[in-house]
Order: sequence, then structure tokens, then C-alpha cells
Amino acid sequence: MQYPTVDYEQGAVLLLDQTRLPHEVVQLRCTTVEELVEAIRSLSVRGAPAIGVAAAHGVTLAADRLLERGMDGPELLAELQEAVDRLEASRPTAVNLHWALRRMRAVLEEAVPGGGDLRERLHREAVAIHEEDVRLCEAMGRHGAELLPERAVVLTHCNTGALATVGIGTALGVVYAAVEQGKQVEVIVDETRPLLQGARLNTWELAEHGIAATLICDGAAGWTLATRRVDAVLVGADRIARNGDVANKIGTYPLAVLAHRHGVPFYVVAPYSTLDLDLATGEEIPIEEREAGEVTACRGHAVARDGTAAFNPAFDVTPHELIAGIVTERGVVREPYEENFRRLYA
Ligand code: MRU
Repeated sequence: MQYPTVDYEQGAVLLLDQTRLPHEVVQLRCTTVEELVEAIRSLSVRGAPAIGVAAAHGVTLAADRLLERGMDGPELLAELQEAVDRLEASRPTAVNLHWALRRMRAVLEEAVPGGGDLRERLHREAVAIHEEDVRLCEAMGRHGAELLPERAVVLTHCNTGALATVGIGTALGVVYAAVEQGKQVEVIVDETRPLLQGARLNTWELAEHGIAATLICDGAAGWTLATRRVDAVLVGADRIARNGDVANKIGTYPLAVLAHRHGVPFYVVAPYSTLDLDLATGEEIPIEEREAGEVTACRGHAVARDGTAAFNPAFDVTPHELIAGIVTERGVVREPYEENFRRLYA
């Protein structure tokens, strides 16, 4: 890709602006925490792992700005804590954001007021989170690729590739890894209304990687599963409860029901940073609701009568019994999830 999904240079978080894809490939420079919070809210950067990495760099950005103003000591620490709070409030469902910021907060909590190297320690932790995501994606790709036959047709929902992470991706990372191993993979892409991450981002990203993609309307998934060969459904996740219930982009749950109905294995691909083992079931996962205008309009064009009411949950929860396996960086986890997560991540 021409620009990395997320990057950091002194005083700016750099984002490949995903709201402009596929028509324009432009980089967005966020030079304040407010700009970065707005970029996360408006989905200029999106995908659970990518927003975690962007927010981690956002804490270094906050430090750079405050140090420029000569701030120091307890006042600096208090302002940085406040910046973490603002970043944390930007989106509620993807737990990777909270996981990354918990790591950044730990650096602040260990800091001695007036201790000189705080900025460097924040930067080192953000870079560690960034580089770890690259390794997690590679490992998930290797484990997931083993699940696919030599010639595979995969159906996917939302964007889960290089744009959603800073590595090769989660579910699409599995596709890239399988292709790297010499397998032939065709991807059927759900458009993913309302914000069209499938139509706008997957078709662009898969073309960049030279992988065959066929776009379908979300409502066509059932008929596609009924009438065409599909070897697996692969999706990512924004938060996974310890019983294996998975929150992911709205439309994932009906897709899992359809895959179950047609006997197609439904796999979730996610790193440990997406697990929230404090939550017993998916019922406890906070689901982001976004503005009605995303439903009543599409890319700025009204598609409903003025004043139409709309319900716009950004995510849904797929019950664990519909999931054939969760591909993590440590291997494929299957039922009973609670016991197997505990064993793997003790
Ligand atoms: O609202 P988005 O575009 O941030 O939603 C993204 C998804 O739902 C992805 O499937 C999920 O973050 C996993 S991607 C690695």
C-alpha cells in the first residue's frame, strides 16, 4: 500500500484516510489528540487492532504537544491521563482500544513526576504495541491458512485486512497467508452496509494484493451460501467474551446463522488483544450505536424519505454455538471456549 494504515512521526499520527477510499488514497495528519479522536470516531482509522495502535501513538502525540508547551511534573501526568480518557471514549466496542490504552496508562502510572524520559517510554510502548500487532497478524495467518483447502472460496464481512490492523490483517490476513503458501483463494465480499467497509475497502485492498474478489449485497449472502461453493466464512472481531460470544460488524450474526443453516464453517480470526475474559457472555459487550444518517443516506446521498427514523447499531453479537473456531495467534480455539481460553492464556 502507498501509505501505512497507521504511522507516527514527531508531533503527528499519520493515518491512511479510510473515509476517502477507494477513490482517493490520501494520508491524514493528526497533530492533536482532538484531531485523532475525531479521526477514530469518523472511521478515518477503523478496525479493532488499528484503532488500538493509533490511540497508543496518540498518547505520545499528547506528550509531544504538552512538552512543547513546557509542561512538566504532576501537571504533565494529569494532562496525559486526561488525553488517555478522551482517546478511550472515542469508540466503545473494540476492546483493543482499551487494551492498548491500559498499557499506555501503565507507563504513566510508573512514571516519577519530573522523571525526564517519560516521552521516550511512551513512544517505546506505542511502538511495541504497533510491532506486536504485525507479529500477531502473521501468526493468526499461519494458523488460519491451515483451515483452507488448496483451492478455497471464502466469504467475508467488513474489512479485516491490512487496513484494519497494522499487519496483514485478521480474517483477510488468513487469506494472504494461504495465498503466500501457494493456495488459490477467491473472496466473496459482503458490501457491509451502512458504511460499506466491504465494498469500499476490501475490494480496494484485495485488488492491491492481486486477489480475486466478488462483491455481493449483504442480503445476497444467504442465496450465495445456498447456491455456490463456499468453503468457509471468515470474519474478524471487536470483542470476544470468555464463553466465545463474538462482537463484530453489524451483519455478522445473521451471516453466522446462514452459514450454520448451510453447513459452512464459520471462523472468527482475532488476537488476544480482542479477548475480554472479564466478560462472561456477549450480553455484557457494549454495542456502539451510530447516527441514523448513516442508514438514511449512503455516501452523502439520501436513500430514505426526510425524517425517517433509523436504528444503527454498529456491531452485533454472534453466539459461540454458531462459531466453528476462533483463530488466535496461539492456534485455533474451539468449544468449550472458557476452558480453552483459560488454558491457552493462563
Ligand atoms: O466499525 P469498524 O469498521 O471499525 O468495524 C470493524 C470490524 O467490525 C472488523 O471486523 C473488526 O474490527 C475486526 S478487524 C481486524
